Amino acid sequence: MSELALTPQPVTQMAPLGIAYGGFALLRQAAGISGAQSAGNEPCWCYLFRALRRFPNLVPMNLNHQNLCPSPEWAAHLQTDILPAVTAGVSLGSDMLEIGPGPGAATDWLRGRVDRLTAVEIDPDAARRLAERFAGANVEIRTGDATALTDADASFDSVGSFTMLHHVATMAGQNQILAQAFRVLRPGGVLVCSDSLASNDLHLFHAEDTYNPVEPSSVLSRLQMLGFEKITVTVDGALMFAARKPGGTPVPG
Ligand SMILES: C[S@@+](CC[C@H](N)C(=O)[O-])C[C@H]1O[C@@H](n2cnc3c(N)ncnc32)[C@H](O)[C@@H]1O
Repeated sequence: MSELALTPQPVTQMAPLGIAYGGFALLRQAAGISGAQSAGNEPCWCYLFRALRRFPNLVPMNLNHQNLCPSPEWAAHLQTDILPAVTAGVSLGSDMLEIGPGPGAATDWLRGRVDRLTAVEIDPDAARRLAERFAGANVEIRTGDATALTDADASFDSVGSFTMLHHVATMAGQNQILAQAFRVLRPGGVLVCSDSLASNDLHLFHAEDTYNPVEPSSVLSRLQMLGFEKITVTVDGALMFAARKPGGTPVPG
């Protein structure tokens, strides 16, 4: 047993140890690690990162995303393989809302297909960069959380979200975003979404990042519960779905 343990220490010498231990415990708690639960062999900075990831508007996505999402390869994939497929046979109308644009690969494609595009991004730095990139174009970029949109009911002809729902930590949060999309769509308006399918590689890609992939078989009932109709769900390399808000007239092409 060490001398430190045998000899009573003056309070002034023990205080820093107590503060350090208390800080460590608080950090574990903030990171979502409780009691004796182990976080594997993660070093302290991982706890800090995990804790901060609970506030996605304060911490950017992990390095994998920071490299991939702004790349020309990702833009080409989204614009060639995903967006034409998920919008096939769908009229986007004049006013569209995009949720979670990130570096804007979809934004760039969508803005050529509608009169006005509004994009809501939770990460203020990503929103600022995007606003600079599209300054003077038919795109309005806003910093905001899509679980609590500030737009009036029935503001948009179409709402789109691409590769973002799996970045929402809970199914309740994802449903909240879909409910908000329903609210801000005008009757007859359309929702178009795509997301990556769950896989081991995708899980690894999200190290120290939010990873909550959408289960494709849940989509139909989740959209029905919210009131959507004319729902199509496609699983073809990625998850794609489209749905319509009842009433009104279909969005003109
Ligand atoms: C993986 S990126 C996808 C970016 C882009 N849609 C694409 O496919 O290239 C997900 C984006 O959604 C944003 N995001 C996550 N949760 C959000 C929320 N609640 N409201 C708005 N944006 C959100 C993230 O900050 C990130 O920019």
